[in-house]
Amino acid sequence: MVAASRTPGGLKKVLGPFDLVLMGIGAIVGTGIFVLTGTGAVTAGPALTLSFVIAALACAFAALCYAEFASTVPVAGSIYTYSYATLGELVAWMIGWDLLLEYGLATSTVAVGWSGYFQSLLKGIGVVLPEALRAAPGAIPGVNSVFNLPAFLIMMVLTFLLSLGVRESARLNNIMVLIKTGVVLLFIFVGVNYVKPDNWQPFMPFGMGGVMSAAALVFFAFIGFDAVTSAAEEVKNPSKDLPIGIIGSLAVCTVLYVAVAAIMTGIVPFMDFKGIDHPVSLALQVAGQNWVAGFVDLAAILGMSTVILVMAYGQTRILFAMSRDGLLPKKLSKVHPKYGTPFFATWMVGIIFGLIAAVVPLGVLAELVNIGTLAAFSLVSVAVIILRKNRPDLHRAFRCPGVPVIPALAVIFCLTLMSFLSWHTWVAFIVWLVIGLAVYFGYARKRSLLHPAVQA
Ligand code: ALA
Repeated sequence: MVAASRTPGGLKKVLGPFDLVLMGIGAIVGTGIFVLTGTGAVTAGPALTLSFVIAALACAFAALCYAEFASTVPVAGSIYTYSYATLGELVAWMIGWDLLLEYGLATSTVAVGWSGYFQSLLKGIGVVLPEALRAAPGAIPGVNSVFNLPAFLIMMVLTFLLSLGVRESARLNNIMVLIKTGVVLLFIFVGVNYVKPDNWQPFMPFGMGGVMSAAALVFFAFIGFDAVTSAAEEVKNPSKDLPIGIIGSLAVCTVLYVAVAAIMTGIVPFMDFKGIDHPVSLALQVAGQNWVAGFVDLAAILGMSTVILVMAYGQTRILFAMSRDGLLPKKLSKVHPKYGTPFFATWMVGIIFGLIAAVVPLGVLAELVNIGTLAAFSLVSVAVIILRKNRPDLHRAFRCPGVPVIPALAVIFCLTLMSFLSWHTWVAFIVWLVIGLAVYFGYARKRSLLHPAVQA
């Protein structure tokens, strides 16, 4: 009964708690652990483990706030919808706009990471792409690249799958998640035998500055647990299942990441990761375990595909909610009569962010995603404190413990990490916010369903 029911807007209710934990892991384990750990190790040294713990703490505090939000208003659109109901339209718009940047550019970032692993696998069988089609302009020093073709193509394939419906996509996601967590565990159990504790000395070669800079970068590795909240309208029992999905997936990933970082830097002297875009499999090659390294490459490719899938899913559902509220064109919330998905929005987002993946380098994209996400987390955490004061009456199926201390810690951790990002990233972020305000006052506000003229 429940599985087949639909909300009045038309999305099917098909997801349970296990689906959500898998969906979370599907969104979390990807480019962060498979690619960015190399740069992280060079930035922090063996203390990269500490960077992961700091980034995880920021996420854990924010996740508790997120879970409170998500369990209160279980409709599509992530925290955008909740802030709309409680904090008003302008704040909701800015959060939604911020999330569009996060989810959209995250799909592009991961597609670029995917492309690197895919090309290294192709190289293994003797196939090399023409220079122009290997990467974004200026992404590889000394290579005359123009367009990252594999990154664009993987975005198109996954957009196609997603447009066919959540059920099919979630099932595919589940299988891939099992493969990638399996291979990470394989890395841990094989790699631990090759650790040389001498490689962990000096533990913190670049001091706390290095640790924090690496934390601001590898924070990307945790992004994704919040994508679970955007599926709220398709969850059977949201008040219970959503917090399990968010916190469960985050906990599993933290344990995996700290173990991977410790083992990687234990096998390979950290400076040897400079310029390496497949650090996890490199560690296995150094250990002489080439067959396991091959498995890791393959699983990384599959794993990153699931990240793109879940992120793109989250993105279309936020667009869906913003459009349904009248803030964005109606076409974006039109549900396909046969597949039950926002078909047009799915393709539109896939094509736009596929093109961005093709022409912008990985490092630039990852930093932008991080700043957008950290800002959204800070806003959510502040909102939890405000709402407990202003709206104590609201029913909260999940209550964040230790308010206001936990939300305050979330804000402090997020702002500190933001302060370690480059000024280019800050400028780009501010420009995005200004455009968001212009679109709101120039378009969205007049058409909002809450606007008196529209209601009349
Ligand atoms: N956390 C996701 C990844 O690392 C976005 O790919």
